[in-house]
Amino acid sequence: MLTKVYGSAVFGVEATTITVEVNIDKGIGYHLVGLPDNAIKESNYRIAAALQNNGYKIPGKKITINMAPADLRKEGSAYDLTLALGILAASSQIKSQNIEKYIIMGELSLDGSLQPIKGALPIAIKAQEEGFTGFILPTANAKEAAIVGDLKVYGVDNIKQVLEFFDQGVPLEQTIIDTREEFYKSLDFPEFDFSDVKGQESIKRCMEIAAAGGHNIILIGPPGAGKTMLAKRLPSILPPMTLHEALETTKIHSVVGKIKNMGLMSQRPFRSPHHTISDVALVGGGAYPQPGEISLSHNGVLFLDELPEFKRGVLEVMRQPLEDREVTISRARFTVTYPSSFMLVASMNPSPGGYFNDPDAPVTSSPAEMQRYLSKISGPLLDRIDIHIEVTPVPFEKLSEERKGESSVDIRKRVTVAREIQTKRFQELENVHYNAQMNTKQIREYCKLDDKSKALLKNAMERLNLSARAYDRILKVARTIADLAGEQALNGNHISEAIQYRSLDREGWLG
Ligand SMILES: Nc1ncnc2c1ncn2[C@@H]1O[C@H](COP(=O)(O)OP(=O)(O)OP(=O)(O)O)[C@@H](O)[C@H]1O
Ligand SMILES: [Mg+2]
Repeated sequence: MLTKVYGSAVFGVEATTITVEVNIDKGIGYHLVGLPDNAIKESNYRIAAALQNNGYKIPGKKITINMAPADLRKEGSAYDLTLALGILAASSQIKSQNIEKYIIMGELSLDGSLQPIKGALPIAIKAQEEGFTGFILPTANAKEAAIVGDLKVYGVDNIKQVLEFFDQGVPLEQTIIDTREEFYKSLDFPEFDFSDVKGQESIKRCMEIAAAGGHNIILIGPPGAGKTMLAKRLPSILPPMTLHEALETTKIHSVVGKIKNMGLMSQRPFRSPHHTISDVALVGGGAYPQPGEISLSHNGVLFLDELPEFKRGVLEVMRQPLEDREVTISRARFTVTYPSSFMLVASMNPSPGGYFNDPDAPVTSSPAEMQRYLSKISGPLLDRIDIHIEVTPVPFEKLSEERKGESSVDIRKRVTVAREIQTKRFQELENVHYNAQMNTKQIREYCKLDDKSKALLKNAMERLNLSARAYDRILKVARTIADLAGEQALNGNHISEAIQYRSLDREGWLG
């Protein structure tokens, strides 16, 4: 007898439906064809044990299983449940009416309980598009799948429930979440809030500007100055994610199986990989490609703490995705693309010892050590960072003050207004949405200076010995400062403030 059951395979952030055909015939043997990987080939041991522990068995006949389309590589253990159901249905051990109307997936433990799968959200999206009635999957993944409307999602803990559902019509509990309500409810309660940061008014201002124009930023300061604390709070002042952005970001986190019992992600992600991270873990890749940290930061913030400690090669591989806002991974037989539109926040100590120009510093570094340290971050990556700012620790009196700072939600209101001005400005352009993305031509067009401001900028560049690459960045940041002030034309105030945010271009740093 021949039975069809359905599973799904995820490539990049999209799923493809997999038809599993099970044929049972006279004879003996177990043949699994259609490009399965080793984890799937081993599934028969798990399936055999899980069935036996629940009062069923793999029949002692000739079982042929074909996974189609045959040219698509299937991987992982998430097909255990699909295959088990197919075998039971084909051998008439269970009634299998309507089984072809469901996507059924899950990894089996030997006792029949189900382990989480990866990619539940893209699978659910595809299932809904292709008109499946429902999606049966492990409980841990049910919420992320239930984001998709018009698809019945059933989270199950054990294969027994699925067998009783098909064989005896015992109903399964449908997972229902009100995506919109949950999404909007959590928007105003960021996990980390700027009101926790005492003092540091000028740094907060600087982060507001970075958020408003989408400018990458580097924070330079001694240990304990609060760099990590500040960076963590950047997502909370970026404009709220749209539902579409939230869906895109959730999909990527779903693909790596990082969503734990959660529906739509409503807060922008903040990722902070350790400096020992490999290229692959940072940008994505591997034999079976998976998204890396830059994609997990999509629509949020990637924080590279202690930037000079990262291997230079690792930083090099980030350059292209920073430019393209997506990363493409090619293998002999296929190519996948993961979105990676993130804001980069980096931090560094001003010297390998941690201190700079500080008479009380517990350690000092020689000029040669300084040079070596700073040279690690110079060049292409630094070229993509518009704002450099020095963070000094707040004095004890300030730290112990009771007064709370301005809340993230209030700062975010100003950022959002400035973003709206930019959206309007760039509405005709396909790849530019905010000031940081402007190319030279657009800078010339939207950052025109009157003669007075031009003279001011020229003068400052000479006096502070700013490099040529600083010029365009100052203009972009000045544009954002003007947008925050709601002013059309750039003036001297905007320019002078922007000039302050180029610490590393000054003499004595990266000369
Ligand atoms: N402005 C501040 N307001 C409130 N707490 C602060 C402030 N600055 C620092 N702190 C406290 O000091 C701790 C250390 O700050 P943080 O870890 O952000 O410093 P850092 O600059 O990242 O240091 P390192 O270079 O060691 O990583 C914070 O967890 C916070 O509790
Ligand atoms: Mg830190």
